[in-house]
Amino acid sequence: MKIIVTKNYDEMSKVAADLMAEVIKNDPACVLGLATGDTPIGMYNELVAKYEAGEIDFAAVRSVNLDEYYPITPDNDQSYRYFMDKHLFDRVNIDKANTSVPDGTAKDVSKFCREYEAKIDELGGTDVQVLGIGRNGHIGFNEPDAELERFTHLVELTTDTIEANSRFFASEADVPKHALTMGIHSVFKARKILLLASGKGKAAAIRALVKSNITTACPATLLCLHPDVTVICDEDAYSLV
Ligand code: PGA
Repeated sequence: MKIIVTKNYDEMSKVAADLMAEVIKNDPACVLGLATGDTPIGMYNELVAKYEAGEIDFAAVRSVNLDEYYPITPDNDQSYRYFMDKHLFDRVNIDKANTSVPDGTAKDVSKFCREYEAKIDELGGTDVQVLGIGRNGHIGFNEPDAELERFTHLVELTTDTIEANSRFFASEADVPKHALTMGIHSVFKARKILLLASGKGKAAAIRALVKSNITTACPATLLCLHPDVTVICDEDAYSLV
């Protein structure tokens, strides 16, 4: 695992965008595994700036997102589809037909999850998967548990995650209680993983990621089994290591 410690959030975002831009330049038809949340917003802004400067082109890029609340409609401004459109897809020349976010309106959830996993396989896995990290060490919505699921599945969110995400909703009661998420094996289909973390709130999770034994009680610790992981975190997120 490679660890890059940056001074602050802005530098983390720039370093991450540089790495993503390299992937796109190396293969204009690459498959990006994308994530939502506060952490990657700066990276998306930097990628948009690179696109506007003519440095990168999204015309042939494909993407698959990590997760989505369930149930939720795509036009809900808290949905991850809405987030991706707002922060990246509507600002660059990506073909939206080439973008996939789990469907928060799927009626047959098991069938949907199988199809989403098959789509990741059809794409040949992602060239790079962007990840945030939860305060509790979750990746995607793979929450700490005695066992972790391999593939895309429906998950019940923990109280910690509901509380952390309630800042985006009118009240905690409005946060969906479930989500669709790639599983650990789905994430591991990525050839490269880029985990971003910023701020003191993530310091304990980054410490666990870097120092603790591998445990499903902190899903991020499994990442040390993947051959190509780069962690980009700012000094605050790294402060307990
Ligand atoms: P955040 O979420 O980027 O909003 O902190 C990350 C995560 O929970 O995975």
